[in-house]
Amino acid sequence: MGVSPWIIVFLFSVLLQGFATLADTNIQDTSGLNGIAANWDTKPSNWVGNDPCTDKWIGIICTGNRVTSIRLSSFGMSGTLSGDIQSLSELQYLDLSYNKKLGGSLPPSIGTLTKLQNLILVGCSFTGEIPKEIGQLSNLIFLSLNSNKFTGSIPPSLGSLSKLYWFDLADNQLTGGLPISNGTTPGLDNLTNTKHFHFGINQLSGSIPSQIFSSNMKLIHLLLDNNKFSGSIPSTLGLLKTLEVLRFDSNAQLTGSVPTNLNNLTSLAEFHLANCNLTGPLPDLTGMNSLSFVDMSNNSFSASDVPTWFTTLPPLTSLYLENLRISGEVPQGLFSLSSIQTLRLRGNRLNGTLSIADPSNQLQLVDLRDNAITAVTIGAGTPYKKTLMLAGNPFCNQGNSDDARCKATGQSNPALPPYKTASNCAALPPTCHSNQLLSPNCICSVPYRGTLFFRSPGFSDLTNSSYFIQLENTMKTKFLSLSLPVDSISIRDPFVDINNNLEMSLEVYPSGKVQFGEQDISDVAFILSNQTYKPPPTFGPYYFIGQYYSFANGVLQTSKSKKNHLPLIVGVAVGGAAVVAALLALTICITRRKKGSPKQTEDRSQSYVSSWDIKSTSTSTAPQVRGARMFSFDELKKITNNFSEANDIGTGGYGKVYRGTLPTGQLVAVKRSQQGSLQGNLEFRTEIELLSRVHHKNVVSLVGFCFDQGEQMLVYEYVPNGTLKESLTGKSGVRLDWKRRLRVVLGAAKGIAYLHELAEPPIIHRDIKSSNVLLDERLNAKVSDFGLSKLLGEDGRGQITTQVKGTMGYLDPEYYMTQQLTDKSDVYSFGVLLLEVITAKKPLERGRYVVNEVKGAVDRRKDMYGLHELLDPALGASSALAGLEQYIDLALRCVEESGVQRPPMGEVVSEIERIVKMAGAGAPIAESASDSMSYYANRTPRHPYGGDSPSDYSGGGLPSTRVEPK
Ligand SMILES: *[C@@H]1O[C@H](CO)[C@@H](O)[C@H](O)[C@H]1NC(C)=O
Ligand SMILES: *[C@@H]1O[C@H](CO)[C@@H](O)[C@H](O)[C@H]1NC(C)=O
Ligand SMILES: *[C@@H]1O[C@H](CO)[C@@H](O)[C@H](O)[C@H]1NC(C)=O
Ligand SMILES: *[C@@H]1O[C@H](CO)[C@@H](O)[C@H](O)[C@H]1NC(C)=O
Repeated sequence: MGVSPWIIVFLFSVLLQGFATLADTNIQDTSGLNGIAANWDTKPSNWVGNDPCTDKWIGIICTGNRVTSIRLSSFGMSGTLSGDIQSLSELQYLDLSYNKKLGGSLPPSIGTLTKLQNLILVGCSFTGEIPKEIGQLSNLIFLSLNSNKFTGSIPPSLGSLSKLYWFDLADNQLTGGLPISNGTTPGLDNLTNTKHFHFGINQLSGSIPSQIFSSNMKLIHLLLDNNKFSGSIPSTLGLLKTLEVLRFDSNAQLTGSVPTNLNNLTSLAEFHLANCNLTGPLPDLTGMNSLSFVDMSNNSFSASDVPTWFTTLPPLTSLYLENLRISGEVPQGLFSLSSIQTLRLRGNRLNGTLSIADPSNQLQLVDLRDNAITAVTIGAGTPYKKTLMLAGNPFCNQGNSDDARCKATGQSNPALPPYKTASNCAALPPTCHSNQLLSPNCICSVPYRGTLFFRSPGFSDLTNSSYFIQLENTMKTKFLSLSLPVDSISIRDPFVDINNNLEMSLEVYPSGKVQFGEQDISDVAFILSNQTYKPPPTFGPYYFIGQYYSFANGVLQTSKSKKNHLPLIVGVAVGGAAVVAALLALTICITRRKKGSPKQTEDRSQSYVSSWDIKSTSTSTAPQVRGARMFSFDELKKITNNFSEANDIGTGGYGKVYRGTLPTGQLVAVKRSQQGSLQGNLEFRTEIELLSRVHHKNVVSLVGFCFDQGEQMLVYEYVPNGTLKESLTGKSGVRLDWKRRLRVVLGAAKGIAYLHELAEPPIIHRDIKSSNVLLDERLNAKVSDFGLSKLLGEDGRGQITTQVKGTMGYLDPEYYMTQQLTDKSDVYSFGVLLLEVITAKKPLERGRYVVNEVKGAVDRRKDMYGLHELLDPALGASSALAGLEQYIDLALRCVEESGVQRPPMGEVVSEIERIVKMAGAGAPIAESASDSMSYYANRTPRHPYGGDSPSDYSGGGLPSTRVEPK
């Protein structure tokens, strides 16, 4: 007869199973991934359909038909991590690092993923408590939750993670103590296989429990710095024989004496106890023969003589012992330790004769300021020629006050610019497209960028490029050994930040293409987030914070339409065609004015065009743009005396500025565009459109414009005291003391806050800098130059993706990286301006960047934050700079790397108002008007409007007669 029906059923089921295993991703995993992606505003471009494994979704790795790995670092998702993650029950790796806008609380259901080995969420914005359920992840090896916004305490349940190797909770807002086990609950003492405890930069408190350390532990890095621990250091610390890096620094309430069995830690290389309140004798480091970096500055140890171990630690590169009441002669042997680079011994009682003979050739800096040294002999053999600082010693009062070593900075080599990878260009380097950079191999491409943080390097000489070259080489080798398309590595601007981490910028350049693909970024970022790359040992533990990598042509899909939030874009330079279209719209609008209301040609220009309101008055045929008058070419020619040389008061990026007098007697500044520049045309339009809508006493006002006979001109109020920049450089003759500077920055801040918060719709200026802040006769600040400005959507919280423009030195690095323009980009530029105002130096000059310089120098424990040397001498005596510290704090908040961490302008204004009060600068400026006029008298008649960038183009004029609407 026929075939048994059973055989048919059997064949059928085999077929079905075959389908299931060969083609279809496990349905639970697919729906899990789709559920996760539904909570994000973007997802990788090929996340479509229902078969992630077969279709090789970017960032997803499968084993069979199960998803085992998700790696999406630096993909720029915003949203939350949905509880759908629990569907991915075979997941072993989850890495969502460097997605700054990924936040919310972590779903407790993550604790059901018992196969999970690596949970890496570095540099996102997660909030709330760390779910105790993470303690159920019994296979977890790698837990990195650092650089988020977690609060609450460390869950004791994490003590159950018996396989944990890497445990990083640093740089959060955690509170409470370090949990230890008791009869019923586990604690951190149970983590006997963990090698890394990274808990620095939190608000952890209480004493460090002695039970937490035992000889069973294998810790090599113990980082508890920058917390609020109190009590004393437990002697059980001496049981951690494997320890290589120890940081307890900046726990101001850590007291008591340092346990004497510390000498047992013979593997310890980096030892940081600075800025605590430790007492008892200065620790005896005899026998700790691996030590390379020792910092015990600023503690309350009892007074002591120079310890004998000073000269017995051969690998020592850096010895920092400031303000510790150490007395005696500095032993010569200290300078000839073979590796010694930096000796910071300021503020002790070192006395007698300082004798430096035969110093190590590594030695770069000897700081002995504020000691009791009476004489100096520099040996004849190989004389020490590097920096030696002796100010504040009796030696300097004995007829040696002119000795360079007695100056504040000491005798020193010319300051070297910070390290930057060299470019090997054989010929003249090519000019790269705006979103590209030149690689060290002289190729223009879009690098993956971010910041490396080394938490405890074993060296201090940042001028020694061999360290950084080694870093580049080893990293490149790592990428290449994993077959990743990396051309080269570039490192820039290393500096020690306020948390005592060594920070530097990293760029990874693609090989064989202009831009990395999505899969490349997933791979490259993982090498750094997962610590697959290990730097040379002397660099110690590190972490990396990657930037969002913008994929060309919007490869990432936008899964939720953001159209509604899109801001109105004015004159955006998206390409020649759009420019022409926009200009056409303008022309149509102007020519149609006489006939009635303008016709709108396209949505985009709609709001722009509609704001060209026509106030047809019967008395004048010249139409008006709300508040701004339209001038004819002949009128302006007349009032500027035929654009005469004598009336020329400056040259800007795309034309000249002339002074003129209107028939009413009002002085104005006329900005005349050079003909034929499309860029100029756009900026012209933008500026009229914006300025005719804004009226504020801290924003320069537009009197009118001219669009006639092929000419484009803008007519402003005349602002007599030039730009803030000119005042800072002394060019304008207006002297600015501390109080005046405060009032000027307050005015500028108010102007910008008005643009951000009160203008309708809000405006991003995009080119805040000292040469765009004008000073009137009463030194009121007026923000000018709106050529690059942008309008934001009605809600004002929008962001715009746009070609990066602005002025180097003031440019927001986040905007530069992501091309996402927000009001916080202006806040960044304003922060740079704040720093410029107190240093009176160009923000970016010969490789020195004021932001890095101040960040690197700030020492919050010191008077004036230790910044005396960076301050503009013209500010006057530092004793008179009330509020300076608060000012610096504010400026540094404004230049936070991440926009969300910068304060909004409204807050900046109220903070400056507070500082103004502290400085007693709140009085009306009546006095300064006459005062400044005497300086004004010395000015050159030619107003130096010369620009340092094409957009540096400012108007001037007499005090406006305009009555400001309140
Ligand atoms: C053990 O410690 C936990 C928290 O660390 C606490 O809630 C519990 O009460 C303690 N149990 C005992 C018996 O001390
Ligand atoms: C944690 O350590 C304590 C003390 O060594 C021990 O009694 C307890 O059983 C450990 N708990 C776990 C879960 O390992
Ligand atoms: C430092 O410790 C001493 C006592 O040991 C205490 O009196 C003092 O207040 C502490 N200082 C700080 C800043 O905690
Ligand atoms: C550790 O240090 C203590 C005190 O200095 C000493 O008595 C002990 O023998 C040392 N232990 C080891 C294993 O070296």
